[in-house]
Amino acid sequence: MQRILIRDVLQLPGDDRSIQVAGWVRTRRDSRGGFSFLEINDGSTIKNIQIVAEATLANYESEILTATTGASVFVSGTLKASPGKGQSVEIHAGSVTVLGGADASFPIQKKRHSFEYLREIAHLRPRTNTFGAVFRLRNAISFAIHKFFQENGFYYIHTPIITGNDAEGAGQLFHVTNFDLDQVPKRDQEPGRGGVAFEKDFFGAPVHLTVSGQLEGEAYAMSLGRIYTFGPTFRAENSNTSRHLAEFWMVEPEMAFATLEDDAQLAEDFLRYVFKYVLEHSRDDLEFFNQWIDKSCLARLESLADSPFERMSYTEAVTILEQAAQTKSKKFEFPVAWGRDLQSEHERYLCEEHVGKPVILTDYPKEIKAFYMRLNDDDKTVRAMDVLVPGVGEIIGGSEREDRLDVLEARMRDHGLEPDAYQWYLDLRRYGSTPHAGFGLGLERLVQFISGMENIRDVVPFPRTPGNASF
Ligand code: 4AD
Repeated sequence: MQRILIRDVLQLPGDDRSIQVAGWVRTRRDSRGGFSFLEINDGSTIKNIQIVAEATLANYESEILTATTGASVFVSGTLKASPGKGQSVEIHAGSVTVLGGADASFPIQKKRHSFEYLREIAHLRPRTNTFGAVFRLRNAISFAIHKFFQENGFYYIHTPIITGNDAEGAGQLFHVTNFDLDQVPKRDQEPGRGGVAFEKDFFGAPVHLTVSGQLEGEAYAMSLGRIYTFGPTFRAENSNTSRHLAEFWMVEPEMAFATLEDDAQLAEDFLRYVFKYVLEHSRDDLEFFNQWIDKSCLARLESLADSPFERMSYTEAVTILEQAAQTKSKKFEFPVAWGRDLQSEHERYLCEEHVGKPVILTDYPKEIKAFYMRLNDDDKTVRAMDVLVPGVGEIIGGSEREDRLDVLEARMRDHGLEPDAYQWYLDLRRYGSTPHAGFGLGLERLVQFISGMENIRDVVPFPRTPGNASF
């Protein structure tokens, strides 16, 4: 089907050239003057194009007047300068073919629907302005991510989705098995032996969907120097919040010969690059978010693209939070104390109220962070960093990795992990170990931050959350 994307048509002058477009009808208005206006959208841009269809067209009564909201049409006509407000060109139709009709049961009508309602029709919601904009933006962000890393010497590595290791050690795993769940083979129930006979399962060992590609990514960083992974990640976290998904996309760069300071600089340069990219390439969609979703969207991106992030240690952050709780009588739901994990309300206070821009927090207590983070000389904290942004809280988590074999083995045991199960990972410290560092960015949280969309379920095409894997 020969056609031009509406995105490109809107860049052309109204010079009477002949033109073909296709799209879905957003609205149709019939004028008494003997013609109809069809607003159509083909998904290539947030903007519609107006089609003027004269009543003299052969199928006007029989077909064009049946084209209601949601129907798909193919239009062939002439491109003219538009006298109307809000558009520079319009198409005067020579023919309009209705490819697929849509009757009054089409569940998206020309009114504001709630995001909760639209989640129930996740297969049709990309036909709305908001979701079209979200998913074009998500595409632009994904492209910018690849572009940034490719321009900076990082190689894209595809790490496995099925794995036996629990990189984060948090036990939030979706198990993968080929067993008939009604007849799971058990080992002999001798004392001390019982349990599932995983040796009879497909992989001969217990496996699950990956929670992070980091450990496998490290193996490639320790040979190609700089790598990144970018793919789906799965966590059986029972967190029904506006920031958690059970299946989300994570970007994980990893650099050999790098420290935590290099890692923090990479995270900042990377985020600011993405902000600049979308300001340049997703202008129409960002203007839509700025008007309808979050009035500070554009100003926030513009200021962040040009200003450095704040940095402070976890210990400094705890002092600030304790002071806020005492002197400014700031009411936190969860208590603040050195050694406890920071809650979303604490993270948001730090970047929204205390600093007013993104903050990189470093050097967290070792007890609350994963086994692979490098232990500081104080023996209390590790070389961890979290990047916190206003509105969302933690968007990036990363660290310098523990590169000393003996310390790493001890840290694994402290975390209840058996070093024998990670021999391949320990080999990276046994042979040519180097300081190295990396981080993980949740793609959906970045889309939320940039667009101002409040619920993470609305920035992923088909959300997977506890109790919901529809579509
Ligand atoms: O802080 P996390 O757990 O770090 C890791 O997985 C490391 N292996 C990363 C690394 O150093 N290579 O997760 C990283 C990011 C978080 O900052 C957050 O943006 C996102 O992943 N994330 C989630 N996003 C949506 N839903 C969830 N349940 C998420 N859990 C983490």
